Amino acid sequence: MKAYLGTVIAILLGLLNHASADDTRPDPVAIERGRIALTQRSHIRKAWSRDAYAKAGRLWGVSSPDPKADPQGYAAAFNLRYGLHAAPYPNDGLPMGLRTGMGGDGIQIDCMACHGGSIGGTNYVGLGNSTLDLKSLFDDLSHADGRSAPISPFTLNTTRGTVNAGQIAAFLLSLRNTDFSRRSFPLPLGANLPELDTPAWWHLHRKETMYYDGRTPADSVRTNMQFVMGEKSLDELKALEPTFRDIQAYLKSLKPPQYPFPIDGEKAERGRTVFLKNCKACHGTYGPDGEYPSRIVELKVIGTDPARAEGLSKGLVSHYNATWLGETHPADLTMTGYQAPPLDGIWATAPYLHNGSVPTIAAILKSSERPKVFRRPASTNFENYDKTRVGWITEPLSVAPDVRKMSPYEARFIYDTSRIGLGNGGHTFGDKLTDDERSEVIEYLKTL
Ligand code: HEC
Ligand code: HEC
Repeated sequence: MKAYLGTVIAILLGLLNHASADDTRPDPVAIERGRIALTQRSHIRKAWSRDAYAKAGRLWGVSSPDPKADPQGYAAAFNLRYGLHAAPYPNDGLPMGLRTGMGGDGIQIDCMACHGGSIGGTNYVGLGNSTLDLKSLFDDLSHADGRSAPISPFTLNTTRGTVNAGQIAAFLLSLRNTDFSRRSFPLPLGANLPELDTPAWWHLHRKETMYYDGRTPADSVRTNMQFVMGEKSLDELKALEPTFRDIQAYLKSLKPPQYPFPIDGEKAERGRTVFLKNCKACHGTYGPDGEYPSRIVELKVIGTDPARAEGLSKGLVSHYNATWLGETHPADLTMTGYQAPPLDGIWATAPYLHNGSVPTIAAILKSSERPKVFRRPASTNFENYDKTRVGWITEPLSVAPDVRKMSPYEARFIYDTSRIGLGNGGHTFGDKLTDDERSEVIEYLKTL
């Protein structure tokens, strides 16, 4: 009997082992390793001295708190100036997005400069940073170190909140041959990408394909290593891959924050019906059995600004695919369109569309209400939040101000939809709905 029980137990244990080997559920240990690797470790060397952080305030042309006598006041002023946010994890007194360089020396930016955002005064890893002025940050830290502003062969950002991450990656890649050996002159790959609004990381676990154009498999770990590739050899990148696999597990574990104000349940239920009829085919369904189609909508159907979809050249994609980065998860060579994103946590991620050209969901659903030129709010605190239209209270401007008469810093508060890549057209699917239906869908979206 004992032997028999032993065999049964052994078989059961075998089954259990087998089940766990096949298990695709997230591994909590890997997630925790990933969180620590992302928020507590430095993966690249310093770009500026630590003093640059404290000296930057002298360049603002307004009196600022003394960094030694009032470090908290200085940090708040620094964060407001560049659109950064206090880190919700230990970070050597630096905001999210800045970090001590490798070996404990100087400072550097990290993923959270763009992927660490704030809404209603709470700061989140994984919420796109919609206030960042990366150009000002880079220029001032360099000037504070007594150097001239970094020369960039492309525009980093003409407005706050958007950032040309794609062209940074394309540029770094053009300096490598397919075997990853370094080149002195960039390869002419033909990519011409625009500045973008940073997407929320909490959608990643639902996606089969990622990035705004949906051309890259969402399971690719190596694609997330493009930001650290500048200073690494191929062997160093290979050694870092397991760490980035953990980081990806952490990104896939993130969940959106809940809408913090009251929701009209009956209205939201009516909105769900409107959503299932008009939006589900592209944006999927929500709740425990929710399904997400990872659907890429052709440019001629979606009609939003084409610069991002068309700016990724065949030359760049082929080169990426021929390197170690694209070897296991190549990007699609032919697609031109935008992936309909999941809408979980959409209440927190204004402004909308891939370029952040539309300040509210109400204006996404009624294209005639989109402002052509507007001033971006200085913060995403709730005083700048519109609960009815869901998104930002922005100041529409009847004519674009002459930005040449403003300081570059001030000029970047202006969002002008006539600039390259910043068009606010397309996605007119809500225009045919009634005002009541639009308002009901918005109520439903607050529940996601
Ligand atoms: C300079 C700003 C910036 C930095 C730094 C940055 N990202 Fe991003 N990230 C973006 C933008 C913008 C996009 C959208 C790009 C696109 O689709 O063309 C993006 C897209 C992504 C996506 C795809 C999300 C989706 O759902 O499609 C992942 C994953 C990601 N980044 C991870 C990282 C990681 C990990 C790091 C750090 C190693 C990092 N990013 C650093 C700005 C940045
Ligand atoms: C034919 C497919 C399609 C339909 C139908 C559709 N959408 Fe979209 N939607 C998209 C795509 C693609 C994008 C991304 C476009 C871009 O960023 O350029 C998008 C973007 C959005 C965004 C902005 C997302 C963000 O994170 O910035 C919202 C909000 C949205 N859709 C809501 C809706 C609602 C509500 C409906 C139904 C009334 C709807 N959509 C119908 C394809 C669709």
